[in-house]
Amino acid sequence: MIDLDWRNLPFGYIKTNYNVRCYFRNDKWGELEISSSEEIILHIAATALHYGQEAFEGLKAYRGKDGKIRLFRIDENVKRMADTATYIRMAIPPGDLFKDAVKKAVKLNSEFIPPYESGATLYIRPLLIGTGPQIGVKPAHEFLFMVFVTPVGPYYKHGFNPIDVVIERDSDRSAPLGTGHIKVGGNYAGGMISQDKASNLGYAVSLYVDPKEKKYIDEAGPANFFGIKNNTYITPDSHSILPSVTNKSLMQLAEHLGMKVERRKVPVEELATLEEAGACGTAAVISPINKIVDIENNITYNIAKDCKPGPKTILLYENLTGIQYGLQPDLFNWITIVE
Ligand code: PLP
Ligand code: COI
Repeated sequence: MIDLDWRNLPFGYIKTNYNVRCYFRNDKWGELEISSSEEIILHIAATALHYGQEAFEGLKAYRGKDGKIRLFRIDENVKRMADTATYIRMAIPPGDLFKDAVKKAVKLNSEFIPPYESGATLYIRPLLIGTGPQIGVKPAHEFLFMVFVTPVGPYYKHGFNPIDVVIERDSDRSAPLGTGHIKVGGNYAGGMISQDKASNLGYAVSLYVDPKEKKYIDEAGPANFFGIKNNTYITPDSHSILPSVTNKSLMQLAEHLGMKVERRKVPVEELATLEEAGACGTAAVISPINKIVDIENNITYNIAKDCKPGPKTILLYENLTGIQYGLQPDLFNWITIVE
């Protein structure tokens, strides 16, 4: 293992040794290539640069107490990238290609996989871009799929400590029937203005409301939102939020742990009734929410008691990370061991 200050890693980019790449040309995918360069050469008219033909994914490799390296629900990332590629008219990386590329990138950089219990993980970034030239608004004929990895610490510097969030009504990350449900870079460019605003006001993240009526909760920046009350796990159902693998897993775990699960519209006023709330995602894992501030209406929803994660949130966090690190049986067949 290389020498890094594992316990204090930011969620940022650190150079590793290799990445893997595969080109789609002449209507077919080529062989996986290993590269030690951090750069790519791109045509000046590549569709990724002009028309946003770009899809990405995010998953992590976890080093367990037993020393094994685990990937979490990689098939879900395969499917989501296929959904994104289909929507923005790109070639779909086949599942085996996607999984081989991820495993290869992890194995080739195994010295960068953080130690167990350091609080850090290896973040894996699969990326698909249109590389072929177009000037009319049309899909490229050539694509590049690549996977790089980088060791990361917690997304929010507070880790599992509750964060403060602010409701955003001045901008939307996507349109009501737009691209919020897929993982394209443009959604994140569109979200930077609200993240800047939230950060400048001292909040960890902005909480989007539905872009059509502005009545319901959508999601929390780059993470899904959930609330808990009356032994029920509640999470918004909306076309404009990204279907999160973490949230899907938490819904299943909540049910397994004897909670009810509701995926439905969540009116903003319902925040007042929540006993616990959190933001969840691969990067964020679970970030419990302390308070939610609605500046326009001058309302603060105080959720966490004494700024501590609530009991159900802790239970869900322990069960999720327990499976990811191999401390608990892989009851739902979510884990792929990298050998
Ligand atoms: N919502 C958005 C907008 C995201 O970018 C992500 C991260 O991919 C998530 C939610 C969480 O999704 P997942 O749990 O699949 O990482
Ligand atoms: C993730 O949770 O994996 C994300 O993609 C969040 C962000 C880094 C885009």
